[in-house]
Amino acid sequence: MIEVENLTKIYGKKDTTFTALNEINLKIENKSTVSIIGKSGSGKSTLMHIMSGLDEPTSGTVKIDGIDIFAMKEKKIDAFRSSKMSFVFQSFFVEANATCYQNVLLPLEIAKVGITKRKQMVLDALKAVDLEDKVNAKASTLSGGQKQRLAVARAIVNKPSILFADEPTGNLDSINGDKIMKLLFGLNKSLGCTLIIVTHDPDIAKHTSMRILIKDGQIEGIEKGRK
Ligand SMILES: Nc1ncnc2c1ncn2[C@@H]1O[C@H](COP(=O)(O)OP(=O)(O)O)[C@@H](O)[C@H]1O
Ligand SMILES: [Mg+2]
Repeated sequence: MIEVENLTKIYGKKDTTFTALNEINLKIENKSTVSIIGKSGSGKSTLMHIMSGLDEPTSGTVKIDGIDIFAMKEKKIDAFRSSKMSFVFQSFFVEANATCYQNVLLPLEIAKVGITKRKQMVLDALKAVDLEDKVNAKASTLSGGQKQRLAVARAIVNKPSILFADEPTGNLDSINGDKIMKLLFGLNKSLGCTLIIVTHDPDIAKHTSMRILIKDGQIEGIEKGRK
């Protein structure tokens, strides 16, 4: 479970401060699908970054399975994150000059996964996103949809328990966007990972089991149950 308590984020200092998140409280069940919805600038990405420990709150706490992540030292948060969480961003976050294999291998190297296990894990992840025929292709040669699938493969190779996706279809046409969403929901089922998607697309949100509506840094409402 992810428990967010009285979370506030204020950017800037003194007379130029901006309150991006204001006293956010929420609980997210393990293995659920969650959407964070709201207008541009409402605080969606900030909330996601703080829930994952990528950014620090001004006040408040985030507990993951009972562990207060900001009570940990920075290095420990980093290790905790790389063992449990993964990210997919709007801009296809891949190394253009590396092959698909090398791109997916990277998180395993960072997490120091045993060398003998790595190859099969990379191939399994590429298979899961339907890119097994592109193992040795350079990422720069892929289409936009393929690059995003590669980013998803990289995000799941470590079998995360939480998968965060920040507007993952924002740079894709609707056909490739649908493909990515089917893939992410499928991974929620097959890996059993909690899926947290930032989106302003109501069609995506209606497929999630919990919808968190954010307005001006505050929770405007939480809806549960698929529509
Ligand atoms: N590093 C930063 N410094 C100052 N203001 C920021 C910073 N990051 C985000 N903001 C501001 O905080 C608000 C929320 O940003 P963000 O969480 O990115 O919104 P969203 O993802 O909903 O579009 C925006 O008004 C944005 O300009
Ligand atoms: Mg954002």
